[in-house]
Amino acid sequence: MYRISELAEKVGLSRSTLLYYEKQGLLQGKRQENGYRVYSEKDLQRLLLLQQLQAGGLTLKECRACLDSKIKRSLLQQRLEQLNHELEQKQRARDLLAALLGEASLRSWHESIDQLAPDAHLDWLKQQGFSEKQALHLKWLSKDMNEHEQYMADFMTVFRGLERWGPGSDDDTLKALSLVPSQPNQVIDIGCGKGFSTSVLAQHTQAHITAVDNEQSALDALGQRLTDENRADRVTLSCASMTELPFAPASFDLIWAEASAYVMGVEQALQQWRPLLKPNGYMVISDLVWLSDNPSATAQAFWKGEYPDMQTVATRLTQMEQAGFKLIDHFTLSEQAWRDYYQPLKVRVAELKSSMPDSAALADIEHEIGIYEDHLGEFGYHMFVLQKG
Ligand SMILES: C[S@@+](CC[C@H](N)C(=O)[O-])C[C@H]1O[C@@H](n2cnc3c(N)ncnc32)[C@H](O)[C@@H]1O
Repeated sequence: MYRISELAEKVGLSRSTLLYYEKQGLLQGKRQENGYRVYSEKDLQRLLLLQQLQAGGLTLKECRACLDSKIKRSLLQQRLEQLNHELEQKQRARDLLAALLGEASLRSWHESIDQLAPDAHLDWLKQQGFSEKQALHLKWLSKDMNEHEQYMADFMTVFRGLERWGPGSDDDTLKALSLVPSQPNQVIDIGCGKGFSTSVLAQHTQAHITAVDNEQSALDALGQRLTDENRADRVTLSCASMTELPFAPASFDLIWAEASAYVMGVEQALQQWRPLLKPNGYMVISDLVWLSDNPSATAQAFWKGEYPDMQTVATRLTQMEQAGFKLIDHFTLSEQAWRDYYQPLKVRVAELKSSMPDSAALADIEHEIGIYEDHLGEFGYHMFVLQKG
């Protein structure tokens, strides 16, 4: 027989815990004539079994039910599911900490937090020391702050060697320009890249054009082309961010933004850029949209990760109206516009593959080209010609 303090020592619990167990009916000592409680070997073993059940994650109440009657499978099953869930959560917590410490990939975390809280994600990245430009590149491209530098170096190795940085063609640019009802004097081309659209605008209008991009190398290439075409005096190059354009309100008759508004979000771009237009000014903007009501699961899964805010044409039109624009016209970019973009890209990837065999950026670009080839038509670029209302 054991006294309560001896029993407590044997099972590694405190005296008060055993008294509590006794109150809960989990343990029943015998009171001796002198008032002391004593416990048998059977009581000790019952306690040890209880501890095992507790280690399986059962509550005291559930342990008692298991000790006093036939074990309930449904109860154990329920507990097991709960434990599995807790383990998954703990595993995710562990993975996140390891990834933040650079021991594993942060991609899925960046992707999911960007879908859940995009603005907070960007602010947080800036707090971690990334510039706005880097944070936006991280959001759209590398998606892993530990791998960011290498990813962007590889990405630029691919794109620096290419002319077009997004789907588009001179014919589509010209078609959109022909839909703008009046000749502009002051035009801004936002996110101009190497400036194919800038060149077309310079060639087909008499306007002065301000070409803005935050990538100096793209502006340098555009500057060279304009010099070659003898149109450099018609264009001002401005290395600035589309999120904080350094121009006074009502500076432009026409805002042009091909394949660039997505960077800050189309709705935000409409709202922030509108004041830059003179009264009744025009905006031409292109965006990647769903063209099918029933896109394939593959395309949906891909764009959910790459462009979570991708919308149908109808949704964009509503947003444009809500942002204070009247629709003049709209059309889907030709397939040629896509081919002009991704065929040279495909050739460039093939050229670089042997020298960059482990590049995540190259693998992503290759994957994206595969999606264009297999699913174009389910989605596409759409051009919207708008007037400030
Ligand atoms: C998909 S490319 C489109 C380029 C060009 N408009 C075209 O259609 O070929 C997007 C462009 O936006 C630029 N860009 C990205 N973030 C930007 C920012 N915050 N401010 C200004 N330009 C930005 C990129 O450097 C790139 O040139």
